[in-house]
Amino acid sequence: MKWKQGLLTIILACSLMACGSKQEQEQPAEPTVTQAVTVAPTATPEPTATPEPTATPKPTEAPGMKEVFAEHNMKAGTCLSHSMISNKWCVQTINKNFNSITFENELKPDAILNQAESKKADDLIVKFNKNTLEMLEWCKTNNMALRGHTLIWHSQTPNWIFHEGFDTKNPLAGREVMLARMESYIKQTFELLESLGYLEMFYAYDVVNEAWMEDGNKRAESMWLQTIGDDYLWHAFYFADKYAPEYIDLYYNDYNEQYKKETLYNFVQTLKDENGEYLIDGIGFQAHLYTEDNLEDYFATVDLLASLGLKLNLTELDVCLGSWPSIKPATEENLRIQGQYYYNLIHGLLERADAGTVNMDALTFWGFADKLSWRSERSPLLFNRLNIPKYSYYGALQIKELAGFEE
Ligand code: GLA
Repeated sequence: MKWKQGLLTIILACSLMACGSKQEQEQPAEPTVTQAVTVAPTATPEPTATPEPTATPKPTEAPGMKEVFAEHNMKAGTCLSHSMISNKWCVQTINKNFNSITFENELKPDAILNQAESKKADDLIVKFNKNTLEMLEWCKTNNMALRGHTLIWHSQTPNWIFHEGFDTKNPLAGREVMLARMESYIKQTFELLESLGYLEMFYAYDVVNEAWMEDGNKRAESMWLQTIGDDYLWHAFYFADKYAPEYIDLYYNDYNEQYKKETLYNFVQTLKDENGEYLIDGIGFQAHLYTEDNLEDYFATVDLLASLGLKLNLTELDVCLGSWPSIKPATEENLRIQGQYYYNLIHGLLERADAGTVNMDALTFWGFADKLSWRSERSPLLFNRLNIPKYSYYGALQIKELAGFEE
């Protein structure tokens, strides 16, 4: 294809410029050995602080991600933060590449549960703040499909919701009270989205996020678990199934999926109603990966979970350089390896989707710009700090000759 040849020249020039930049060559700080993937993100850095790249040709001839994925009947998604909708480059990049949006923070429990209103009503009350409302409207104006994220989670969930009188000074509320609050919260979320005219934009919703540990146990710190008991996950899906419209697929979403595959395989089969029908529609693999994560293992996980016949989406894809305990710097070589990794991963998924062995209707990246990523110092995404597409971008686009493979 002619555009590919033109692009190759442009990209080689871009890569050279990018690799020569100081920022990209700096050794990233040693990773702290904490639970990086589970820690709640702090506020997203403002995109406006970034200098616009000067004299950098923009390869506008390449198709956008959404066109490439559409050939495989899949949506291409990104997470969205509020600051992005007023940043010209972000808006252009999103509109060119993506047709599905997951709010990075603005539909999480701590963003939508209102303490004052809950105390007044003696019920757990859902209320959207200004940022959430502006983002919903932006998505409507820009014709985006939406993945809701997330209802029941141990993190970014206010403590007061688990206490009598919605006040942490009081004792924890009992099981029946918490079941009633859970039902009301889930019901109101769908009702509010409907009354505001946004519900039809949603095609998927993460009902529960990150409930399982790698050792096969439920995450003990979940206050939902502590107040309701072992069956809280079943109830969450039962209520979501009761109140969500049919067209919204209900998801269980988790990270480190390749280390939890048997646990997840057994768990989702418990999410059935009294007639043996699934209360869940899909499994979300967050896919916070590293270039040294074994792809064969990853595909084995995909194949095992897909064999249940439920949908399977990648929901938060990013691929850091190196491995979790030992990240690597953004050198030319490592960025090429990352490009190849994106290419191979997405290639394997698209092949499976085309063959019908995996029911995947969307693949969401956890952002697109390294400088805006929650793992920014690990260079995990598609555009470098100068907003220039990386090998990873072309890898994800399945343009093999630009994805960092040896020429
Ligand atoms: C998890 C959550 C996301 C996000 C990331 C960190 O993966 O599911 O919503 O908080 O952590 O950004």
